[in-house]
Amino acid sequence: MRAKARAHPNIAVIKYWGKRDIERNLPAVGSISVTLSDLYSDMAIEVDTTLREDVLLVNGDESRSMLARVSSCVDNVAGSDRSCVKITSDGNFPIAAGLASSASAFAALVVASNAAFGLNKSHEELVNLAGRASGSAARSLLGGFVELENRDNEVVVGNLLAADDWPLRIIVAITAPGPKPLSSGDAMEISRKTSPFYDRWIEQQSEDLTEARAAIQDRDLIRLGAIAEHNCLKMHSVMWGSRPPMIYWNSATIACMQTVRDLQSQGIPVFFTIDAGPQLKAICAPEHEELVRDAMAATAGVVDVMVSGVGTGARLATT
Ligand code: PMV
Repeated sequence: MRAKARAHPNIAVIKYWGKRDIERNLPAVGSISVTLSDLYSDMAIEVDTTLREDVLLVNGDESRSMLARVSSCVDNVAGSDRSCVKITSDGNFPIAAGLASSASAFAALVVASNAAFGLNKSHEELVNLAGRASGSAARSLLGGFVELENRDNEVVVGNLLAADDWPLRIIVAITAPGPKPLSSGDAMEISRKTSPFYDRWIEQQSEDLTEARAAIQDRDLIRLGAIAEHNCLKMHSVMWGSRPPMIYWNSATIACMQTVRDLQSQGIPVFFTIDAGPQLKAICAPEHEELVRDAMAATAGVVDVMVSGVGTGARLATT
């Protein structure tokens, strides 16, 4: 009645922003991501019939603020009449800061809950249970390059490339490690209701997915970079055009973008993407990792740099 699972965050190169069904937490658009290898969340879950309510420890400290969302994810896996559990979450990167910590945490949580309660849910069920907790978490069930597609009342994830097929490096420039002011779930609802650009964003997504899929299949970094940057900036334009506007960037985020542009103008194949937070992720081939990492670290306002390869999907770990 205990189990532990590890999952990695994923970074979308073609983003999802907006939901088509709030109740089921279904995304409005498909998306494509890359799963990271070096950042992780471990979720251990222990069924404890002596407990009167669930207990959540995050990096050693009891957390009440995140408990409701975590408990509801376990309910979705095991049923709301389940016994109480103690959940221990440990990770090696800042949480709720636009680094997809909810993706890795909920992907690991559904895998661990399934095992701890002795359930035998299929991979497809686990994908949808993770997606219900956090849209992007469905993608962390798989490694490598992952595409999430919408099907009726479900999402389906598939591998475009496995982790070893295209060993890119992801350099994460941390410009502000604190939690973001507004959760992405709340922010995307504001965009759907108020941004004049929202409908065009939804309409154009399938073109962006087609272009990115082809670039990934050809392992063409420049082509992937062009569409990924376009898609990222378009998503942020939807946010900027929302009322109230949502600007997750700070001046260091923009300085990092400029650093990537400078590297590109020197002929270095590298591109950036930014999620709902102020951190910038630069993606390049292994031979340019050092150069890109040093350039990001030297950019004004960057407080830390993390480097990762392409990782594998969520899996059980030894407790
Ligand atoms: O998984 P959520 O609901 O926290 O939303 C993630 C949204 C973005 O990270 C901005 C884009 C994406 O596709 O991951």
